[in-house]
Amino acid sequence: MKYKITLLPGDGIGPEVIAEAVRALEAVAGKFGHTFAFTERLMGGCSIDKFGSSLTDETLADCQAADAVLLGAVGGPKWDDPNAKDRPERGLLALRKGLGVFANLRPVKVHPALIDSSPLKPEKLAGVDILVVRELTGGLYFGLPKGREMKDGRERAVDTLEYYDYEIRRALNLAFKLAAERKKKVASVDKANVLESSRLWRQIAVQVGKEHPDITLEHVLVDTAAMRLITAPAHMDVIVTENMFGDILTDEASVLAGSMGMLPSASLGESGPGLYEPIHGSAPDIAGKGIANPLGAILSAALLLRYSLHLETEAAALEKAADEAIAAGARTADLGGTLTTRQMADEIIRRLS
Ligand code: IPM
Ligand code: MG
Repeated sequence: MKYKITLLPGDGIGPEVIAEAVRALEAVAGKFGHTFAFTERLMGGCSIDKFGSSLTDETLADCQAADAVLLGAVGGPKWDDPNAKDRPERGLLALRKGLGVFANLRPVKVHPALIDSSPLKPEKLAGVDILVVRELTGGLYFGLPKGREMKDGRERAVDTLEYYDYEIRRALNLAFKLAAERKKKVASVDKANVLESSRLWRQIAVQVGKEHPDITLEHVLVDTAAMRLITAPAHMDVIVTENMFGDILTDEASVLAGSMGMLPSASLGESGPGLYEPIHGSAPDIAGKGIANPLGAILSAALLLRYSLHLETEAAALEKAADEAIAAGARTADLGGTLTTRQMADEIIRRLS
């Protein structure tokens, strides 16, 4: 089969890790007899530099016309001016919105060989296998009004946390569907003791829960969830939550896996191409050194194979190769090793079978 994949390497270490994810995908294509047609486009700070816009209409159209989109990372100190009209992150949010990818899946698994890479006690980490479903196109990131003004001689800023029922329901529906294939446990995370939007969230979670009597639903306040993620992570299965809570909790959860560089993500909508990106940022401090961990990007490519191309065997083969490379001791600097980005990818690619 032939598939169209749009690449958005982005800024910082983005291009370095995407280059390795592409090599991994090409190796998969060779082994399994597929053709991947890659189109590379600029998005983020690099696009601001070249086109004056973090996401151009042409790039968005290319992404919408693809079977899937693979993204590296965006942002960096160069584009951090708080008064700038455009920012790399704006491009990313516009892309998520433009693709309608309302749910961001962030699996957090602890590889047994990496238990010592995490600052948590080993006994807490055994068996951790969490899937965070983060609502991605609503909430504080997008709600209006948003902005700054002078009011009564004072500077004022506002962001709006807004949710419609259907936005909450579709994220929860997906979380329950995914939980059915796992340990059948959903933790719906909110702040219903304080926030109106969270009370609506919880009401809908209860409704969706009733449609899935075989799945255990628990409501967890976000502050408690943050604590449980490090005190009892092995008891968690699927976590579903609003955009901002999900952003924060997944950085926290990445600590369980030993390094933020390990974690992939898949952003999915009702239909159309999915968006795949490692959860790490552009890491300007190590950009250009060739030492970034390519695992997050390569495992994102595996999710791309699974969810957008429906190539489960290929996805599982790539994940297995990555698992085996880690088990054999392959480590980049973030995991205390000495392998370069490319060498780490080589360790995975040669184990593909
Ligand atoms: C993430 C990132 C982004 C987000 C930033 C870069 C806008 O932190 O994907 O988790 O907050 O969604
Ligand atoms: Mg984040």
